[in-house]
Amino acid sequence: MNDSSTARLPGGSWTLGDSTLTRFGYGAMQLAGPWVIGPPADHDGAVAVLRAAVDAGITHIDTSGAYGPRITNELIREALHPYPETLFIATKVGADRDAQGGWPTARRPEDLSRQVHENLDALGVDALDLVNMRMGDANGTQPGPIAEALHALVELQQQGLIRHLGVSNVTEEQLAEARAIAPIACVQNMYNLAHRHDDALVDQLAADGIAYVPFFPLGGFTPLQSQALSTVAGRHGCTPLSIALAWLLQRSPNILLIPGTSSPKHLRENITGAACVLTEQDVAELDGIGG
Ligand SMILES: NC(=O)c1ccc[n+]([C@@H]2O[C@H](COP(=O)([O-])OP(=O)(O)OC[C@H]3O[C@@H](n4cnc5c(N)ncnc54)[C@H](OP(=O)(O)O)[C@@H]3O)[C@@H](O)[C@H]2O)c1
Repeated sequence: MNDSSTARLPGGSWTLGDSTLTRFGYGAMQLAGPWVIGPPADHDGAVAVLRAAVDAGITHIDTSGAYGPRITNELIREALHPYPETLFIATKVGADRDAQGGWPTARRPEDLSRQVHENLDALGVDALDLVNMRMGDANGTQPGPIAEALHALVELQQQGLIRHLGVSNVTEEQLAEARAIAPIACVQNMYNLAHRHDDALVDQLAADGIAYVPFFPLGGFTPLQSQALSTVAGRHGCTPLSIALAWLLQRSPNILLIPGTSSPKHLRENITGAACVLTEQDVAELDGIGG
């Protein structure tokens, strides 16, 4: 990444292993069709927003073979392959899709090996930059051992198919179990202004130098709405959702953003607003949303 990329994106960069990622990244999940099934309504628009993200200097894209399924990865490949050397694509494994659009768990070693190879194939790469072992389900985290699944990913990493390992949708127990098995580069859990269950975890990971990548940073399928967000946004002349991103960037230096959008206009608004420097009063008012 050249220095101007990090300089023009809010939040600067984060070093993850041998890579430097812009803290302002892009989440590709909702580029597929409704409820993350099938092709997008506007195929060319989806390709254009991916290119706009990279043109803006973003070097971190989050995806999964389960999105579409396969469709989001194919869009990324169509839009961006051959990938810039600086682009870091994080994916995740642990679930398949069924005919009803559900996300059935699939984390036996043979499932994970198949999913890793599907991601490699659809993205058109020889090795995946980062694979998150996704635990839990559509309802959130679920207790249970992660060891067998993580050992399977470690084996794939030893074969040279994966550069870094992360975990997603995990409990603190699962994270501790994973960290005892292999170096974990990031945790991707649900977290935003209104869902702050992981507050203590964010701080602990920051102290340990591990990235925390909140999914649904804007609230996901039902984007955040609150009077406090609108008030603070009005004060800064930004959009309310972009203020939710500014708050995350300011919350902790190890937080990496992967907001999703299908709109180049929203992408620009989000980048602009995330650069707002929030005052103590702003933060106190915004903290009240999660209280
Ligand atoms: N690990 C996991 O289990 C897991 C689960 C869910 C998601 N994820 C990851 O998290 C990433 C982010 O999640 P997400 O995209 O579902 O949710 P999100 O980033 O919280 O929110 C995306 C929604 O916000 C809207 N939006 C964005 N900017 C806006 C703006 N400026 N004004 C108005 N609306 C705006 C988008 O609509 P428009 O398209 O109209 O802009 C879209 O509906 C995903 O891409 C995925 O990679 C991971």
